[in-house]
Amino acid sequence: MDMVNNEYMNEDYDKFVDKFKPKLTTDDCYTPVEVYNVVLDFVKNNCNIDGLEIIRPFYPGGDFENFNYSDNSVVIDNPPFSIISKIIRYYNQRNIRYFLFAPELTLFNCVQEYTAIVASANVIYENGANVKTSFVSNLFGEKKIIGSPELYYSLKKINDDKKAKRPGYEYPHNLVTVSQIAKVVSKGIYIEIDKKDVVLCSRLDHQKSFKKTIYGGGFLISNTAAKIKAAAEKLAAEKKNKKLKVWQLSEREKEIIESIS
Ligand SMILES: C[S@@+](CC[C@H](N)C(=O)[O-])C[C@H]1O[C@@H](n2cnc3c(N)ncnc32)[C@H](O)[C@@H]1O
Repeated sequence: MDMVNNEYMNEDYDKFVDKFKPKLTTDDCYTPVEVYNVVLDFVKNNCNIDGLEIIRPFYPGGDFENFNYSDNSVVIDNPPFSIISKIIRYYNQRNIRYFLFAPELTLFNCVQEYTAIVASANVIYENGANVKTSFVSNLFGEKKIIGSPELYYSLKKINDDKKAKRPGYEYPHNLVTVSQIAKVVSKGIYIEIDKKDVVLCSRLDHQKSFKKTIYGGGFLISNTAAKIKAAAEKLAAEKKNKKLKVWQLSEREKEIIESIS
């Protein structure tokens, strides 16, 4: 038990230290190169940017208002979303050509002049954030809205490939995560585990050197609880491939069971 208490103390200390790490926001969503290339190809195929210099004024410590924009350039970049309205206004007023990543949620919520290119793509950025992304541009003349399956499918493919490559984790029987319980519940299986059978555990010792934690947290569980979990998972696995009609007990039958219990 002492060992477990020490683990608590270490976890609390780690959480304390985490408080002082800079918080990542969508402004820190750096664009994976393969995502940028898809966007660049889309712009090249759909707008006439032949001979224009492609520029990216948004980077740590950058100052887009004091960037040297030549008449012969086009901005194709992922800007800090928190100031995107200011950026669009700045570019529109100065006729600076742009094709910018934009958060989908606010795309139709802005009075400024631009074409909204709806890609509805979940982009996983370098910091791991998964953000529904679309685009804004002044390269499409009188068009106000463009819905682009081309962008949607190309960006989705990158996202799907990334997800498929993520390592899957298998935890010991004596650990329970919320997603394990969720999986069982989604198959219609009831499960309960007593308080006396669990000890909070947000990271296994084995994970420390890999700098990993248990996603959503978890509990170390007693052998009794591990058997309950295993039985529920077995039932859930049996139901997985079958579309079952679930028969319910009536109140009358419940009363009969109650009378013989
Ligand atoms: C969403 S990130 C994208 C970075 C890079 N353009 C990319 O595509 O990976 C936005 C970047 O803009 C920077 N930034 C913030 N304010 C800025 C400003 N006023 N001018 C230029 N860059 C700025 C942030 O520091 C951050 O690095």
